[in-house]
Amino acid sequence: MAGPGKVHLRTWGCQMNVYDSERMTEALEAAGWSTTPEAGEADLVVLNTCHIREKAAEKVYSEIGRLKPLKAANPRLRLAVAGCVAQAEGAEILARAGAVDLVVGPQAYHRLPGLAAAAAEGARLVATEFPARDKFDLLPARAPARRGAAAFLTVQEGCDRFCAFCVVPYTRGAEASRPAARVLAEARALALRGVREITLLGQNVNAYHGAGPDGGVWGLARLIGALAGIEGLARIRYMTSHPADMSDDLVALHGSEAKLMPFLHLPVQSGSDAILRAMNRRHTAADYLRLIGRVRAARPDILVSGDFIVGFPGETEADFRATLDLVDAVGYGQAYSFRYSPRPGTPAADRPAVDPLAAEDRLARLQERIALRQAAAQQAMVGREVTVLFEKPGREEGQMAGKSEHHMAVHVAHPGLVAGDLRRVRITRAHANSLAGSLV
Ligand code: SAH
Ligand code: SF4
Ligand code: F3S
Repeated sequence: MAGPGKVHLRTWGCQMNVYDSERMTEALEAAGWSTTPEAGEADLVVLNTCHIREKAAEKVYSEIGRLKPLKAANPRLRLAVAGCVAQAEGAEILARAGAVDLVVGPQAYHRLPGLAAAAAEGARLVATEFPARDKFDLLPARAPARRGAAAFLTVQEGCDRFCAFCVVPYTRGAEASRPAARVLAEARALALRGVREITLLGQNVNAYHGAGPDGGVWGLARLIGALAGIEGLARIRYMTSHPADMSDDLVALHGSEAKLMPFLHLPVQSGSDAILRAMNRRHTAADYLRLIGRVRAARPDILVSGDFIVGFPGETEADFRATLDLVDAVGYGQAYSFRYSPRPGTPAADRPAVDPLAAEDRLARLQERIALRQAAAQQAMVGREVTVLFEKPGREEGQMAGKSEHHMAVHVAHPGLVAGDLRRVRITRAHANSLAGSLV
């Protein structure tokens, strides 16, 4: 019988996929697998995929095509598709790509070692069912031997908001929060292994409503408050949030909890009320601006980050200008923007498309506007003192790289700095995507 061998994992998509890949790796290692950075050496290749835009989803098939020759060279090699494409397309993947042996959705990862063993015996399998229990509860406890100074921790999965463009409610299912006690236990385990910063993850993380150890239901603010009590843990972040789920206590916590970092990723998608309505976002541009004002009142130096979609069906030039106005009004420290991609099964998929050239042009204009603001935010840091959590060696010899409180990348050349060090740094130079400085 072919026993476990070497596994090679590749990850696309959001941080939740990064976290899931770590958990899959740990589950496979517990079953006797070892990991390899070389697909050519592997007996199992797992592609952890993303379905959010068409381009992301199509990448999977080109990747499968590239892996085909490896399968011809190594008859033991099995190919698994995991993640959101696996969930969305299921058995279609086996039909479309003969090289794929295993399709495993995000809610079935606890079955991966067993499925991989069955695939090694020649089976072709699909596992996309949703378990009745917390999936992470069914996975082996964290054994993060090679953890760095910063780690992700998924606390909530799925989404009940059904924005008209988005596949997440279909690929990740209904909103589900992990019990607070489990999150706290995992955070303590991470802290014991030297993790100093935790980013709490969820597709709609501020909708977190987990069972509390006291028998009540805890919101995200309550959870963060409890996590802040963990010794060794210095920093807490969370993403991604929906504006309509920003509770008063979470806003207030930004002003009172020193371990909660001054960074907020709060996607708005559009600055036009008509488009926000068509997107089913359930708030107006003015609501969003008021919310940002309240967050800034609690924490004046907070860095606000966002996501935008341009070319959503029905978007006019005037709608788009409203988005540019909102970008100016908020003054984002960073933001991501995407051209709308119609996704099968979502409410907006069949609506008439915006002229592709107009959409392209709007995306370029928006990105230019965002880049200007981002550069200004970086430049404004020069001369200031920040605290940096160092995570890994920088690109240049003798350099260490880390993140400031505002989640900006900072490089410092200083012998003796090691990952996990939390040090004061004076910023001396700003580049496009990073800062340079020296220890204070
Ligand atoms: N849960 C988060 C993010 C979801 S996906 C939220 O509620 O905002 C990350 C980003 O991808 C979204 O914020 C959106 O800007 C973008 N996105 C999602 N679906 C998209 C689509 N069909 N076309 C283009 N961009 C999309
Ligand atoms: Fe998708 Fe986020 Fe909207 Fe949920 S809130 S449907 S994850 S964009
Ligand atoms: Fe992509 Fe799934 Fe994340 S669609 S963005 S990997 S939740």
